[in-house]
Amino acid sequence: MRYVFDQGEILDESKVSVSIRNKGLNYGLGCFEGIRAYWNEYQKQLFIFRIWDHYKRLNESGNSLHIQVPYTPIQLIKWTIQLLRQNNVREDVYIRPMCFKGANTLRPDLTDPFNRVTIYCTAFEYKPKPALKVCVSSWSRTGNNMIPPQAKSTGNYLNSGLATTDALLNGFDEAIFLTDEGNVSEGPGENIFIVKNNRLITPPISDNILAGITRDTVIQIAKNHLFLSVSEHSLSRTELYSADEVFFTGTAIEIKPIINIDHRKIGKGIEGDLTKKIRFHYENIVRGNNPHYLSYCTPVY
Ligand SMILES: Cc1ncc(COP(=O)(O)O)c(C=O)c1O
Repeated sequence: MRYVFDQGEILDESKVSVSIRNKGLNYGLGCFEGIRAYWNEYQKQLFIFRIWDHYKRLNESGNSLHIQVPYTPIQLIKWTIQLLRQNNVREDVYIRPMCFKGANTLRPDLTDPFNRVTIYCTAFEYKPKPALKVCVSSWSRTGNNMIPPQAKSTGNYLNSGLATTDALLNGFDEAIFLTDEGNVSEGPGENIFIVKNNRLITPPISDNILAGITRDTVIQIAKNHLFLSVSEHSLSRTELYSADEVFFTGTAIEIKPIINIDHRKIGKGIEGDLTKKIRFHYENIVRGNNPHYLSYCTPVY
């Protein structure tokens, strides 16, 4: 996809560059989003899922980090639609907006006012397995007094990268972080849910998670369509092992069952019934096929 957005302009990607001196690159001083748009073949329409919520979160991330985004969510939505149109996207696509320190200076302070915004879109290359075998990581989730975990900051993904790499090198598909206190937190790029006795439980924001937009959609599906009780409370590692079902949620991974944790079978060792039902609703909603959720689906054409 040839065109990208850079500082208020849509340009051919070959015209865009970042200096090796760039401060955002050198020190991980940036925040970003991951947004998906889904192609609906029947309607010949591309729907961007919860774009408003993503750009609102980008602005909030920027505020927490002293990396203020120099555009409003409305302006960014307009640019994104224009970018998708200019690339003539007619397939599922992943959109990556980023706001990072634009100066080419030393010292990792955040006082410099130049915050550069870029957006690119790409066909989604990362294809996770349909069901995951995961481990609890020896790396803790970054705490609130280290890097704000509710801000989606580029620097914080070194924490994610270390956990994911260890998991892969040890033969697992993905990792689960605990907090320093030992509560279940989230995956390196996903939120986590368990099902226990027909109740859905997910860690609270205070357990150092990113307030996931997919997580929020799943809570709505569980309450509105499956009439399940949903609670947000701290979970111990043992509650993971004894859960009936466990699954990850996230824009990239969508809804993905976890069938094994630390070599222990979860439930029957296959995708659970409630996970499957939630996944079914989610896949319908994001593609613009559920009239109750059309306000979440922004048409591009
Ligand atoms: C650390 C982390 N947690 C959770 C999520 C899931 O968030 P969302 O559902 O908004 O994509 C992501 C993905 O953005 C993430 O990077």
